[in-house]
Amino acid sequence: MIPHFKSLSHFNREELHHMLDLADRLKALDFREPLAAGKVLINLFFNDSLRTRTSFEIAARHLGASAVTVSPGKGTWDLETEFGIVMDGGKPEHVKEAIQVLARYGDAIGVRAFPEFQYYEDDRDERLFTAIGQVCEKPLINLESSFQHPCQAMADWMTLRELFGSDIKNKTFVLSWAPHPKALPMAVPNSALEMAVLSGINVKLACPEPMLLDPDLITRLKGNLLPGQQFEISHDQDQALDGADVVYAKAWSGRQVYSNPNADLAVRRSHADWQITTKKMQKTRQAKFMHCLPVRRNVVVSDAVLDSPNAIHIQEAENRLHAQKAILMSIWNLSL
Ligand code: CP
Repeated sequence: MIPHFKSLSHFNREELHHMLDLADRLKALDFREPLAAGKVLINLFFNDSLRTRTSFEIAARHLGASAVTVSPGKGTWDLETEFGIVMDGGKPEHVKEAIQVLARYGDAIGVRAFPEFQYYEDDRDERLFTAIGQVCEKPLINLESSFQHPCQAMADWMTLRELFGSDIKNKTFVLSWAPHPKALPMAVPNSALEMAVLSGINVKLACPEPMLLDPDLITRLKGNLLPGQQFEISHDQDQALDGADVVYAKAWSGRQVYSNPNADLAVRRSHADWQITTKKMQKTRQAKFMHCLPVRRNVVVSDAVLDSPNAIHIQEAENRLHAQKAILMSIWNLSL
């Protein structure tokens, strides 16, 4: 079987902890040895990136591998991502051929493909990423698909382990919806929620009712709780923040308003006061503040919170590098 890294749900807790243990060791050693000399990682970005792109390129280089980044339409043929259509428009190459060709050149393929926000079910079922997976003959890494961002989740989990160690089961993680000028995907909150449940921390999801995440995902995650682990959903942010040890803020477009820009905008406008401020953080147990980045200052979170010692978003972003080094080593079957 090809050792992909497409979704947290493809691994059990023990396998993920094993990868995180490796990430911890790589971080402690500031590991830079050519264990993967000669290997090539090819990353295909349909959407922009700062952290995912650079941290994967650097992780590959630290392991002695090469990294090639391809951005369709920016120096590379623009790629058609619809299936079964007549290609008489502006896009001269289909992603189906592109992936198969890149898989012949590289030893692993990373793909970032955000949702289209047209049909909820297409995005939930990861229509494009799934189709790519069906023709990719090399290990495929999810660099953020329409519904999941597992690489971000691994770095987030690594950060929680650094914060709390084995005391994690006594702590509370609040994933709070946040305002934003644009409708954003559910990928990060979905994976953050999944990671938090897997980690054993108590979980509270705080969001305006129309911004609720996918009900099937929530049902699945509730079924994965450890004995005694709490999982709560609240539409009252102040109530949810009470007793939080970590506040993870993120904007997203919820199930009820998905593909409905006017309804989405109305919720975002009427909930501008969900911005994480010092006053909000005072309701918590001196919680740490997390965000995957990029973050809109003074929209999602105030300057005062983001510049406070409790904000650990830079540590979280650094951990992308170490966690992804561990992911590359795992898919290439390398060990220290
Ligand atoms: N968090 C994250 O994935 O960052 P980029 O979009 O910059 O890669």
